[in-house]
Amino acid sequence: MTGNCAVILAAGEGTRMKSKKPKVLAEVLFKPMIDWVIDSAKACGMEEENICVVTGHGREQLEAALPQGVQTVVQTERLGTGHAVMQARDFLRAHGSANVLILGGDAPFMDGETVSMALQYHTRANSAATVISADVTDPTGYGRIVRDGNGDFSGITEEKDATEAQKAIREVNSGAYWFNIQALLVALEKMETNAKYRLNAAKEYYLTDAIEILRSMGQRVTTFNSRSEDVVLGANDRDQLAHLNEIARQKVIRRHRLAGVSIPFDTGVIIAPDVRIGRDAEILQGTILKGKTEIGEDAVVGPNSVLENCVIGAGATVTQTYGTDVRVGEKTQVGPFARLRPGTQIGADVRVGNFVEVKNSTVGDGTKISHLSYIGDTDVGRNVNVGSGCATVNFTGKEKFRTTIGDHAFIGCDTSLVAPVRVGDRAYTGAGSTITEDVPDDALALGRARQVIKKDWVKVKNPYRK
Ligand code: UD1
Ligand code: CA
Repeated sequence: MTGNCAVILAAGEGTRMKSKKPKVLAEVLFKPMIDWVIDSAKACGMEEENICVVTGHGREQLEAALPQGVQTVVQTERLGTGHAVMQARDFLRAHGSANVLILGGDAPFMDGETVSMALQYHTRANSAATVISADVTDPTGYGRIVRDGNGDFSGITEEKDATEAQKAIREVNSGAYWFNIQALLVALEKMETNAKYRLNAAKEYYLTDAIEILRSMGQRVTTFNSRSEDVVLGANDRDQLAHLNEIARQKVIRRHRLAGVSIPFDTGVIIAPDVRIGRDAEILQGTILKGKTEIGEDAVVGPNSVLENCVIGAGATVTQTYGTDVRVGEKTQVGPFARLRPGTQIGADVRVGNFVEVKNSTVGDGTKISHLSYIGDTDVGRNVNVGSGCATVNFTGKEKFRTTIGDHAFIGCDTSLVAPVRVGDRAYTGAGSTITEDVPDDALALGRARQVIKKDWVKVKNPYRK
């Protein structure tokens, strides 16, 4: 392996989150913070194999949640950010002479564009290390970027070790850096073997000391000032996490609006960062779009729809609907009050109306399932009409079976289709039927008791009636 690589520091516990999960799995817009950070590394052209996460607290949970291919090393004792990077030495050696991007796993807004620009700067300056810095309104808690009389970078001082004058500095260390790998390995060696580097206020190995070590060796160290102060933001408790969510929510909404998506009122609208939305689509109040959802052009979603990993066709409307892992075709109308469950593919020009649930099923173009029905484990053909109150009886209590409904079939109101069963093309089922046997093409099936009239039954039999 030769190209650039990344080491993401994520061994911390995040005690103040008061969570069973390691802190970096806390979510911003439904996406774990560590995944935001991994995506920033990938934006610099790295594959998963070139990304190494330093784990510690909640190691197993974190490893299970990481994208396939991402490497991990364990930091068993939490002795500081410098010590965390030491754990990744073998990974770094395997990357030879290239550069490494160091990122904090809990700073989700250190975006791909910023780290890419910092890399360009780092390469052009031929630096041994480049610190990504930001000017912030409130520098409390961050390492300060210290400069000499000429404004040249002279080092980073942690809050705990800072003088009053240094505490007033508002340019801070974001915790993200590019290092030449060979230079970093030398600096880590010196840090580990010279006790003076742990005489700081925290008694930890500071990664920021690697910067000082390289400078004292006469190597070139630069800073790259990011344009946004958000890049440094992290969350230590759930109140701060909510703040990150609100910042991210507004950024994403603004990005879509500027790209031609109509979001007239953003009350309760939450759009995850990887959602894609076509032009002239409209997103209405209370709508939550999660995961890798894609909304086609001119579609209208909401109010109050929740879609996760759904693909919604152009011109479709999805009103007051819950959908997970489904595809909906062009110009199809869903809702209000519909539930679309995983494994469902709905064609174009379909109508899935109120109080309809569709699960693990395909529905052909032009079909109408307008009211109060359950369609599960079913292949519904094209231009079918499913009347009100129909159910596929797909579960025996032990096993699940599939139902097939042919093209142009007409399923009368309140029909139960007991799977496995097939209704043929153009076939009808009479209202109230319980269909247990296959219905041939073009046939009418009636599966119900014939109506009986008992004349004057009430007068004769009903004891309560005067
Ligand atoms: C660090 C920087 C500081 C910078 C700030 C930005 C140092 C010494 N200081 O401070 O200059 O302004 O980040 O947020 O580096 N971690 C480990 N193992 C450890 C310690 C930390 O994996 O032993 C991980 C944490 O889980 C976290 C990241 O490293 O994801 C940063 O650690 P944190 O303790 O928050 O560093 P700061 O003290 O905030
Ligand atoms: Ca921190």
